[in-house]
Amino acid sequence: MTVFLNGSFLPLEQAKVSPLDRGFLFGDGIYEVIPSYRGVPFLLDAHLERLRRSLSEIRLPDPMGEAGWREMLERLLALNPGGDRGIYLQVTRGAAPRDHAFPIATEATVFAMVNPIQTPRLEMMEQGVGAILLPDERWGRCDIKAVTLLANVLARQTAFEQGAVEAILLRAGRLTEGAASNVFVVKGGVVRTPPLDRGILPGVTRRFVLDLLEGLSRPVFEEAVSESDLRTADEIWLTSSTKEILAVTRLDGQPVGSGRPGPVWRETLGLYQRAKNESLGAVAREGSDD
Ligand code: PDD
Repeated sequence: MTVFLNGSFLPLEQAKVSPLDRGFLFGDGIYEVIPSYRGVPFLLDAHLERLRRSLSEIRLPDPMGEAGWREMLERLLALNPGGDRGIYLQVTRGAAPRDHAFPIATEATVFAMVNPIQTPRLEMMEQGVGAILLPDERWGRCDIKAVTLLANVLARQTAFEQGAVEAILLRAGRLTEGAASNVFVVKGGVVRTPPLDRGILPGVTRRFVLDLLEGLSRPVFEEAVSESDLRTADEIWLTSSTKEILAVTRLDGQPVGSGRPGPVWRETLGLYQRAKNESLGAVAREGSDD
């Protein structure tokens, strides 16, 4: 695998980062995960926009610039040809003697790699997955896509140990999001997802799904979702760049609605897949016009 590190493309085994890197010592960095299908990054503009926002929120100047990111990603994908990929990008505040306050004149560390994407298997899509409810014990700025993910790691691990795929998090009795996904609920045909605030990640897939739902006559609200809304929902979905839209069919071991992925999920996934194929086709055509 060829990766990108601080301006160079090199084999993963040769990519080395200092133990004084602030990403390693403090978790002082941010990241992105961008899906790429048939060599074409999906919703790239939205991911780069969020990357810029994360950098700005942690007061780290963008070390690559818009054109720099695009060129680097294109080259990285060309150097790692193959099927569907998940691009992982990370930027940290660089290596410096350990001190919490920002170092002066230290270069950011920029790392990128591509891995086979772990989209859910067809069987998982068709049957739905299990999730558990856990208290949201993360910090107050979950809108920043920070690499500091220990609370998410512990929540996801607890879910796995209970035979579930995701932990759905509650703060003060209200849904925030999943350990690595946004969450939608459907009840009586009405779709709801929590509004954006500092407590959840502004998911690129969440936005894309909300835009798709606008085209339907169905009521959709960005508003608070309580624990009892979750426990009595007809449908629950997880959205993320790698999971796309995944139905939760068991919550804390109890069936969600009928216990099967529901009709609103099926309809929305159909829209999603059509829009995705159209968008990838359009980007590929733009590329071939050059
Ligand atoms: N995670 N919320 C959290 C906490 C996440 O980590 C993610 C994605 C999402 C969904 O965001 P998006 O639709 O932009 O992928 C919501 C990625 C996939 C990860 O950490 O691997």
